[in-house]
Amino acid sequence: MGNRLCDTLGIEYPVISGAMAWTSMAPLVGAVSKAGGLGTLGSGFMPKEIILMQMEEVRKITDKPFAANLFLDPSPMLEVGVSAILDGKPAVAYIDSLNLLQYDFTKEYYDKFHEAGIKVVAKINYLEDALVAAKAGADVIITKGFEGGGHVTKVSARVLLAEVVENISDIPIVASGGIATPRQAAGLTVQGADGIEMGTAFMATQECPIHPNCKQAIVDAIDRDIVACGQSTGEPSWQITNPLAEEMLKIEADLPWSEAADKIREMSMGSLRAAAMEGDREKGAVLAGQVVGLIHDIPPVADRIVKFCDEWAELLKKDYSLF
Ligand SMILES: Cc1cc2nc3c(=O)[nH]c(=O)nc-3n(C[C@H](O)[C@H](O)[C@H](O)COP(=O)(O)O)c2cc1C
Repeated sequence: MGNRLCDTLGIEYPVISGAMAWTSMAPLVGAVSKAGGLGTLGSGFMPKEIILMQMEEVRKITDKPFAANLFLDPSPMLEVGVSAILDGKPAVAYIDSLNLLQYDFTKEYYDKFHEAGIKVVAKINYLEDALVAAKAGADVIITKGFEGGGHVTKVSARVLLAEVVENISDIPIVASGGIATPRQAAGLTVQGADGIEMGTAFMATQECPIHPNCKQAIVDAIDRDIVACGQSTGEPSWQITNPLAEEMLKIEADLPWSEAADKIREMSMGSLRAAAMEGDREKGAVLAGQVVGLIHDIPPVADRIVKFCDEWAELLKKDYSLF
């Protein structure tokens, strides 16, 4: 394979594994990059020394390019992430944000990475953000749709990709949200994507260092098992329904959101860790996107990249002519 996305990032296959807090740790990131994709450390909420240690661990697995995540929102965490990335020098800074991008602020940070020889991949949720990111010099744009795992966004993956492709042509565009099959990837190629990002699908891989119960929960879940908790906090996340999620939804249905938000934040604390590290499927929060219904196994990472891309390439050779 190989196209302008691969050329820009120095990778072999046009597949990015998304940043996943406390989930896309070094073993997964190293495996993805080693297989020829771009692995991304879920470093957005980590202390600097852990980020640097994780980067070292990735480099023990592979010397190929990988990315580290930060959130471009004014907060003390931003400076932690910037300093860790400038010191650790991964090939790519993978930049998400929880608020709309402001041009001057965005450019200031993109410039810092570029001056250090680090590429900028901007993950966006709205066309407006994509336009700001492109103008500020992003090297690649990921369009993450509503159905994608992690924070719940607003615009569907299909609409967002189409909007961005219609408006930005000079940098590679990566489709994200709800992807798990080569057939989807082939459809997205026709829709103008230069590559794909998957998050949830990479959780269900042998190398992902989360608890086996968590991986099994993804395989067992069906589309309607995915619920959005934390609407009251303004930062809802998708998770697989379980007693914890049901309790959270009840609190948000019964209480005014101003009261519910504090309770939800308290309940969320440690719940991601309880699921991901301790395998607690009842009281832990198993974060995953709507795509769970398409994930039926827990293969080695290389199958989600090399085998996946081989099938993707085969599909693109077929004749689909309708007219
Ligand atoms: C468990 C989990 C944690 C996530 N944490 C982050 C994060 O810390 N930073 C970020 O930019 N995106 C985060 N995401 C979003 C992913 O990077 C990616 O954009 C998303 O999973 C793609 O959608 P998909 O899950 O349908 O493939 C997370 C997603 C999941 C499933």
